[in-house]
Amino acid sequence: MTHELNPIVYLNGEFIPLDKANISVLDRGFIFGDGVYEAIPTYAKKPFRVKHHLERLNNSLNAIQIKNPLSFTQWQQLIKQLIHKNNYLDQYIYLQITRGVAPRNHAFPHQESPTIFMMTSPLEKQSQEVIENGISVVSLPDNRWQNCQIKSISLLPNVLLQQQALDKGAKEAILIRDGLATEGSASNLFIVLDDCLITPPKGPLLLPGVTRDLIVEIAHEQAICIKEHSITETELMNAQEIWLTSSTKEILPVTRLNDKIISNGRPGRHWHKMIKTYHAYIQDL
Ligand SMILES: Cc1ncc(COP(=O)(O)O)c(C=O)c1O
Repeated sequence: MTHELNPIVYLNGEFIPLDKANISVLDRGFIFGDGVYEAIPTYAKKPFRVKHHLERLNNSLNAIQIKNPLSFTQWQQLIKQLIHKNNYLDQYIYLQITRGVAPRNHAFPHQESPTIFMMTSPLEKQSQEVIENGISVVSLPDNRWQNCQIKSISLLPNVLLQQQALDKGAKEAILIRDGLATEGSASNLFIVLDDCLITPPKGPLLLPGVTRDLIVEIAHEQAICIKEHSITETELMNAQEIWLTSSTKEILPVTRLNDKIISNGRPGRHWHKMIKTYHAYIQDL
């Protein structure tokens, strides 16, 4: 097997080829989805916004009462080593911590011994098709739990929602809860309305995206009008522009929502301006 097909991964203290990485079937991640994760984009072998990802990891671990097994510096060193053990220039690090192996019982085990896993994959650039024509999305009822701020590996609702979107010929789902648009199945939501950016406020109904926070930061720095408030379904339908953001997809321009064409079917001028600035931040790395 070539290195690309069998990359080096990190599992519980060791760097090993992917095909040698095994865990017990009694791992609580496998049995209960009892764990959390992060996905960190890496450009020219440098992780982007790693501090923000590690802070969110800490918050997710605290929320599910797993003690962070490594210090910030140890995480940074492991991530650096993993990046350099693999050949990809731009990649994304996936890291996952579960509550470890224990006899199957809902209650936490008395002795905690978390499983730590990290792997890396190539980071795909945005396609020319997306840059020119944007993506189609559908709106779907947000039927997830009330702790969406935790980056939990229990992603079954998100998986089903995204599949529903794909089955309808769309690329992503925008989720609606009680008449308000929360986020995508794997992305955060921004709209442009009256030339002002709007994104829903952070809270238990959405993941506090690292990309979302950077866009809010950029908007403040560049005196771009931005508001953090709830987005009603009507506001969503009347938006001049709609964007979906994530660390691996950056800023996706939405040009079709259900049967409605958004922004004349082309990524809008606000998106063009923001994506340029976003890429400049990456260059500054
Ligand atoms: C549900 C959800 N919301 C938002 C995001 C975007 O977060 P980030 O920008 O930190 O990648 C993700 C990313 O995977 C996600 O799964």
